Amino acid sequence: MKILLTGGAGYIASHTCIELVKSGHTPIIVDNFYNSQKEAISRVEELCGQSIPFYEIDVCDKEAMSVIFKEHTIDAIIHFAGYKAVGESVAKPLAYYKNNIDSTISVCELMKENGVTKIVFSSSATVYGLAEKVPLKEDMPTGGCTNPYGWTKYMIEQILTDFANANKEMNVVLLRYFNPVGAHESGRIGEDPVGIPNNLMPYICQVAVGKLKQLAIFGDDYPTPDGTGVRDYIHVVDLALGHVAACEFDCKGVEVINLGTGVGYSVLDMVKAFEEANGIKINYTIAPRRPGDIATCYSDATKAKKLLHWEAKHTLVDMCKDSWNWQKNNPKGYNK
Ligand code: UD1
Repeated sequence: MKILLTGGAGYIASHTCIELVKSGHTPIIVDNFYNSQKEAISRVEELCGQSIPFYEIDVCDKEAMSVIFKEHTIDAIIHFAGYKAVGESVAKPLAYYKNNIDSTISVCELMKENGVTKIVFSSSATVYGLAEKVPLKEDMPTGGCTNPYGWTKYMIEQILTDFANANKEMNVVLLRYFNPVGAHESGRIGEDPVGIPNNLMPYICQVAVGKLKQLAIFGDDYPTPDGTGVRDYIHVVDLALGHVAACEFDCKGVEVINLGTGVGYSVLDMVKAFEEANGIKINYTIAPRRPGDIATCYSDATKAKKLLHWEAKHTLVDMCKDSWNWQKNNPKGYNK
């Protein structure tokens, strides 16, 4: 299949691009490098041993985007493009709503105009909001998001659902990611956060490499086995393979699918696993809870297994080793 990846130079998209090529598909990348690096595409090409068609365009710019559809017959779109920093979304909500929603509408219109009927969307477990029980299952209530970024994911799920309801030929897969970590085993591509990382694994890696002094563990008084927050960490290559399976899945209408491992680890579990896997001590301190955080979040991963015949294979040790391999080989990320 010829598959257009919006935001194709990003962390999850770059790994997906490689797995698509390995599975015999033809990816096409569109990205405006707002929050990603051109170098990521060069490295994907190096790892795939082939060049990947690529367009430097803002996905909101529908006219510019239409050129891609003139030049290629697209079979499916994976819509990764979007602003994704939780804290920034609180400070700049309008920019988040405008960019994330406009780009989605532009993609939907282009699908309709060009006869593309399949879209896979990067949603997030954040749409479950402050859920009352775990594991999180796709049919549980959504909403009650704790920040505008989360609300954009919630709203886009609704937009794509309405779009499919009104256009019966459209097939929509909403993938709800849990916590992506790790990197390609080569150490050539990985997560390259701008500024000080908000997420746990990049923070641990930057402490390990000496860029940051100490990890602050946000709260040790949660109702969890060791008091620290529990999450469902998933290796980015597993996540990438979930996208390949979603593209190949013969979906009718709309399907919502969690991509997680179904297993939760605490912040302290992650620190210990990283230390043991890599033989590096992580300096940490216990800090107050971070506003908006929940105690426990992990997936029920059975639907993905049933529908996509996909399940996460990488272990926690793989996640820690591959995250560190990327960080130590690229202490300043891409291009720096
Ligand atoms: C966050 C976002 C989620 C987004 C995801 C991207 C919220 C409520 N959720 O998830 O929408 O899709 O990132 O991966 O913002 N922690 C520390 N110290 C740190 C950083 C994190 O103790 O310096 C803890 C957190 O309190 C949490 C766990 O580590 O218990 C994971 O945090 P993080 O990596 O930021 O992910 P989430 O908050 O789960």
